[in-house]
Amino acid sequence: MDKLVIRGGNALLGTVRISGAKNAALPCMAAALLTDEPVILENIPQVRDIETTRKLLAAMGAEVELGYGRAHHRTTICARTLASPEASYELVKTMRASTLVLGPLVARCGRAHVSLPGGCAIGARPIDLHIKGLERLGAMITQEHGYVEAITDPLKGDRLQGAEIVFDKITVTGTEDLLMAATLAEGETVMQNCAREPEVADLAALLNAMGAKIQGAGTSTIHVKGVSRLHGARHRIIPDRIEAGTFIVAGALTGGDLNVAGCNPAHLTAILQKLAETGVKTAVKADSVRVMGDQPLKAADLNTEEYPGFPTDMQAQYMALATQAAGTSIITENIFENRFMHAQELVRMGADIKIEGRRAIVRGGTALSAAAVLASDLRASASLVLAALVADGETIIDRVYHLDRGYEHIEEKLKAVGAEIRRVGDIFPKRAAAPART
Ligand code: EPZ
Repeated sequence: MDKLVIRGGNALLGTVRISGAKNAALPCMAAALLTDEPVILENIPQVRDIETTRKLLAAMGAEVELGYGRAHHRTTICARTLASPEASYELVKTMRASTLVLGPLVARCGRAHVSLPGGCAIGARPIDLHIKGLERLGAMITQEHGYVEAITDPLKGDRLQGAEIVFDKITVTGTEDLLMAATLAEGETVMQNCAREPEVADLAALLNAMGAKIQGAGTSTIHVKGVSRLHGARHRIIPDRIEAGTFIVAGALTGGDLNVAGCNPAHLTAILQKLAETGVKTAVKADSVRVMGDQPLKAADLNTEEYPGFPTDMQAQYMALATQAAGTSIITENIFENRFMHAQELVRMGADIKIEGRRAIVRGGTALSAAAVLASDLRASASLVLAALVADGETIIDRVYHLDRGYEHIEEKLKAVGAEIRRVGDIFPKRAAAPART
């Protein structure tokens, strides 16, 4: 199992280029199921979740080409025929976002057999709102043996029916799943209390390029006029705002001068505003943010909120920064019920953090010392990398496969701007099996 070894103390200097957004690429790949024509997606990040999605679509019978070259990070998906509109537990358990195929499969094939995702490190992660929304669109849903079986109603022409949907809670993939389903429904669908994340708007841009009729994506209310079929399209995935935020924090934490290029600062407003409160200096251009870490950091409280509020996916990274800021920061995680797994690992490196339910009280200004630490989920592992960049000594981060799910070539990118970081296999190689007793 790969590990990252990071020696702290180097300021990050130079330019780092941001990859395409994993959380935009995943729904866009699922959207290709809605047509029998090729969909070409560019700026696809080379991360594990994309490979998992490739396997998932191929298992259904879609043709999926996926290539990463200097010139392009591109996938071409053609779901000409879908022999088995299913998503097995084997794949879904490794990536809960697989449930994004539920809406497209029911809309395209009239049925879907998708494993329930189960929980993960950060929370229960139910999909009850996805299911309720599909029922509003006329799908008939049963759940048994850990799977969701969804079919369209033969009495309604085996086609989903447009409806009014109001989400009980704001859900990003719930909004995306139902947006995709509604594109092929009969009649108009109005969805309210939708997620406003940029990844939703990016998905809608692809769907409209495929011939869908969507208005209002990126706002709380989305209107969809159903069409009978969608055609192929070519689309470029937006930059990853969470990767950008992670590197901006890295530049600030290490006292560096880092140009984070190829990002969309318009997606970073809440992040940049909060970092400015802590004293971080930035210079923002059309597609880059330069962060200058030459100012002392000061504590600032944080509440994670749905977009355009401060993203929960940046909470762990902010906590690493808060450990170095003068004063006490109170971090409240409002989206997930168990997203402080990184806190105890930071404490093992010397941080002073107390968890009280949904709140973490971080007493900053504590020197961090290197330690052997364990990644528990994607963004927690990013938090440990950030802490290791400023810790005294050599930190070993285990289970970095979590990191590889959402950060493309992170060690190469960090090394290129001055970090002392390397990826190794098992540092403590397993002892050779004792010779069989004769
Ligand atoms: C998306 O997950 C992201 N994943 C997550 O990023 C991100 O943390 C999350 O949105 C919040 O921004 C992708 O886009 C692939 P939600 P999602 O549905 O859609 C509850 C990362 O690090 N809820 O918006 O699964 C849920 O339990 C990942 O890249 C229900 O109760 O999150 C949570 O408390 C981690 N019922 C809240 O809503 C439902 O049917 C928000 O979840 C759905 C959600």
